[in-house]
Amino acid sequence: MDKPKVVLGVSGGIAAYKACELLRRLTESGHDVRVVPTASALHFVGAATWSALSGHPVATEVWDDVHEVLHVRIGQHADLVVVAPATADMLAKAAHGLADDLLTNTLLTARCPVVFAPAMHTEMWEHPATQENVATLRRRGAVVIEPAVGRLTGVDTGKGRLPDPVEIFEVCRRVLARGVREPDLAGRHVVISAGGTREPLDPVRFLGNRSSGKQGYALARTAAARGARVTLVAANTSGLADPAGVDVVPVGTAVQLREAVLKAAADADAVVMAAAVADFRPAAYAPGKIKKKDDQDPDPIALVRNPDILAEISADRARPGQVIVGFAAETDDVLANGRKKLARKGCDLLVVNEVGERKTFGSEENEAVVLAADGSEIPVPHGPKEALADTVWDLVAARLS
Ligand code: CTP
Repeated sequence: MDKPKVVLGVSGGIAAYKACELLRRLTESGHDVRVVPTASALHFVGAATWSALSGHPVATEVWDDVHEVLHVRIGQHADLVVVAPATADMLAKAAHGLADDLLTNTLLTARCPVVFAPAMHTEMWEHPATQENVATLRRRGAVVIEPAVGRLTGVDTGKGRLPDPVEIFEVCRRVLARGVREPDLAGRHVVISAGGTREPLDPVRFLGNRSSGKQGYALARTAAARGARVTLVAANTSGLADPAGVDVVPVGTAVQLREAVLKAAADADAVVMAAAVADFRPAAYAPGKIKKKDDQDPDPIALVRNPDILAEISADRARPGQVIVGFAAETDDVLANGRKKLARKGCDLLVVNEVGERKTFGSEENEAVVLAADGSEIPVPHGPKEALADTVWDLVAARLS
């Protein structure tokens, strides 16, 4: 089988050097990558580097190798075009259809999915001109990843950093796998909770659970690749990298998770509760470490109920037509318990999976049945957590349209 053909467009920002890492990941995972830098990008990383890493000649202008009609051919043959970094100038040119070099010509001739990973100073990103250009590109079906927040070129920090190349690579992989031309979640805001809450007993101890957060992160990545604006409320997931273009809100306890989810859900089209939320928390928090007392049995730990967030947001929807999805971790009578839980919680979809010592928690794979409020059952065979995530978004997208 032919390798998928990827065009890596690089525009003139300091983050151009990070595109070398993206290029490596793409080539090493079996993609045939043609790099098309702009003339300004070559001020940051030279043609020799792009050529050596991609194994292809590198041109910036339509006047290079004219006999090969590169300005049309490269775009026509691509399976994916990714522009990283995409400067404010590049987004403006792409939005307005300008074609004054090889990359902008390629963007006009490409009929495949296009991903932009913008990087610029916060002021430039927030300028209404840039925001309108981004909205135009998204409306036309391009995936524009939200920039990350962090250190910028100088000493300043803010929104505008190029997302981690590993995460841009993940978006490309997802977009290529689905072959999405029209990202079906474009213009939608989705909220996902992930991880497991920790309910503190004292400054050093907590009641927690084994949820790794990987399923929630897979949901966030796949939603972003399908064009959604994503808020990820992440409970104790410090080991996982922030997915590119996703707004991550870190939380610790069930009460904090509830607050963050309710806030983000106010304007959300869909909410997916993948987090394992503790049903109970210690009734009292000891501000100092609880000490054992010699020759005495330990004091019992009194617990109080935590709010049931899924039931609450399902009963009192922030917007009409908002789609709400729950997850159910069950060890016995998986489907029967799942049906009862779906009715009790009042959500639209419930992803039911069997958990146990060696099942699901922390693994890269999952197997589940999605139960719908209309009575249907959608089995999802054993496979990557991203495949389950895409099935969830297929069902959500169908309910939103
Ligand atoms: N959930 C929630 N708030 C809680 C507990 C759970 O929002 N206090 C959500 C979870 O995020 C998940 C779903 O409810 O989407 C089901 O979680 P699960 O732990 O399986 O269900 P429980 O409500 O704990 O029911 P049971 O005790 O019967 O297992």
